Amino acid sequence: MKGVVLAGGLGTRMYPLTKVTNKHLLPIYNKPMIYYPIRTLVNAGIDEILIVTGGNSAGDFLRLLGNGKEFGLRHINYTYQEGEGGIAAALSLAEYFADNDKIVVILGDNIIEGNIRGAVASFQAQKDGARILLKEVSDPQRFGVPVFEGEKIVRIDEKPLTPASNYAVIGIYMYDHRVFDFIKTLKPSERGELEITDVNNFYIREGKIAWDVLDGWWTDAGTFDSLQYAGGMVAKTGANKL
Ligand code: G1P
Repeated sequence: MKGVVLAGGLGTRMYPLTKVTNKHLLPIYNKPMIYYPIRTLVNAGIDEILIVTGGNSAGDFLRLLGNGKEFGLRHINYTYQEGEGGIAAALSLAEYFADNDKIVVILGDNIIEGNIRGAVASFQAQKDGARILLKEVSDPQRFGVPVFEGEKIVRIDEKPLTPASNYAVIGIYMYDHRVFDFIKTLKPSERGELEITDVNNFYIREGKIAWDVLDGWWTDAGTFDSLQYAGGMVAKTGANKL
């Protein structure tokens, strides 16, 4: 399976930290943010990786990561997103790289304590469709939130004012090749982005989504508070443990 790290965007929520650099190059404790999602993929046995970046500092990723020697990789693929169109728009740039294979997509600001090997193995065994990961949180209104009927997810609401559950859909998604066809039909949301939640809802409507609850802590690092929280958690417990 192939892996895609989404590390574009303008990081406007984090100005002025992101005025001259990309959010995913900011430090989380002792490493640049992007190291953590790359490690998550590598720890799951994924060694064909595409980084989607954009904005002013795209060249810095190449200088920082090179061919991925630090991660035991021999090569890293890069692509460049012009402007900012949302997570699904960034993912659409991975179509050529994916070449009809299944993919694991991780948002460049998602940090986990453990690993995703179990979920990736389950997705490998899954004939088709998608697989998402959930985590119980105290502030679901900040995230995509699954709506359950029994064990079944019937819908995901993006940043709902009144969340239907206490779970967040975390930024690690597994898709078959049809994801790119779905993205082509998307319309921008109210925040002007092509939403990954709309992609997941396509799979839900077709009855083709599976889910797991992630073990260990998870956080995004895309706000001042979550960035600080992520650094504290990494310092305290370490991340990406096998
Ligand atoms: C994005 C997704 C959201 C998901 C979150 C995970 O939110 O839209 O569904 O729960 O990532 O980090 P954003 O970071 O764009 O606000």
